[in-house]
Amino acid sequence: MKNGGRFYKKTMSDVPLVGKTILVRADYNVPLTKDGKISDDFRIRQSVPTIKKLLEYGCRVIIISHLGRPDGMRDMRYTLEPAAARLAQLLGQDVRFIDECVGHKVFMWTKRAPQGSVTVLENLRFHPEEEANDTEFARQLAKQTHADYFVQDGFGVVHRAHASTSAITAYVPSVAGLLLEREVSTITHAMKEPIRPLVAVLGGAKVSDKIPVIKALVPIADKIIVGGAMANTFLAHDGYAMGKSKVEDGMDTVIEDVYARIKKKVGNDKIDGFLILPVDVGSGTSLEQTATRKDVTIRGIQSDAYALDIGPKSMRRLIEEVARAKTVIWNGTLGMCEVPAFRAGSVALAEVLTGKHAPDSIIGGGDTTDFVLGWDSKKGANFPYISTGGGASLELMSGLKLPGVESLLDA
Ligand code: ADP
Ligand code: 3PG
Ligand code: MG
Repeated sequence: MKNGGRFYKKTMSDVPLVGKTILVRADYNVPLTKDGKISDDFRIRQSVPTIKKLLEYGCRVIIISHLGRPDGMRDMRYTLEPAAARLAQLLGQDVRFIDECVGHKVFMWTKRAPQGSVTVLENLRFHPEEEANDTEFARQLAKQTHADYFVQDGFGVVHRAHASTSAITAYVPSVAGLLLEREVSTITHAMKEPIRPLVAVLGGAKVSDKIPVIKALVPIADKIIVGGAMANTFLAHDGYAMGKSKVEDGMDTVIEDVYARIKKKVGNDKIDGFLILPVDVGSGTSLEQTATRKDVTIRGIQSDAYALDIGPKSMRRLIEEVARAKTVIWNGTLGMCEVPAFRAGSVALAEVLTGKHAPDSIIGGGDTTDFVLGWDSKKGANFPYISTGGGASLELMSGLKLPGVESLLDA
């Protein structure tokens, strides 16, 4: 994937950094194991160049992020302390962790933090004000950290208009970090004049987030292949009995809208050839690591079973379509990859994307990235471009504006 031209927002290189206090918004929303360990540190690793650059300038670096969806509560399963520890290892220097993101402790520590120091503050989403895009909370973040500049580098979260992505930019001059700049330039450039056919493969579980994006992708993509719980929601809408499968309710109107747009684009009789849903699934009755799989057609899903992967026939179709594509965007695993028996669909796709004559591709999504990095013998280097963004990369690819980018100073 090639990088785009000059970035349209001010970046770190447009402001005088020497000796300054810099508040960096990172996206350390990393996947965790059941016992709370970081299962993949890709997003933390990708934040390192920005932090190192700031340290070269003798800055005091204060990092803020969210992790998970603790719903405004202080839920210690989502503490950023392990992320701070991982960052210290990656930087090879001490990282101070403060167990709050606003308040007296933050004020006192950041006031006397030495030049060249790195501090990580506690999860922003322990405060409901973060997701509410609250101006007073944003003001506190800016003022209590003594920030001279705000650097937005949390590409994965810039599709949200939250206090740390939107409101904060009113209180401190705000510019793009290196990761944000690279992600936005690369993805925008790739989608400007994509080499066709362009195939979008969408899966995963954040259905209500991603279905509206499908709508925006209809005019852009040549085909859309759907798997994961996203496919379950479409199949349920189409009248199939999905047993105990994960299906998101309340999606009928937007699914109807997706179908209407496809019909307008390709005609009523070609809908199936444009939006490709599974015709069979890997089903199971347990979600344990040792679970076994039974492949059934979408008419044969038992009432006590979950559809947890695409089936073999659907995999063959997927491989065919992707092999014919010139550009592929993939977001959302095609099954429950955390369980070995339900990885096959995602493995099949990863194989085509790294095989001989593979199309160019952009992969996004926290869990999708986690899966491909774990699967790949070269930790992701066999893929053309792996984005740190999930919803953010999808929205950007769909041509939507990202609030966390738009709010930065214009170049
Ligand atoms: P990403 O993080 O890549 O954006 P999502 O968060 O939307 O993707 O979805 C990833 C999650 O979807 C994974 O944790 C996976 O277990 C889950 N998933 C995928 N397919 C299914 C399915 N058929 N049933 C239940 N969960 C699924
Ligand atoms: C992501 O993982 O997509 C980002 O960190 C945003 O997380 P969210 O979907 O919980 O807002
Ligand atoms: Mg996810």
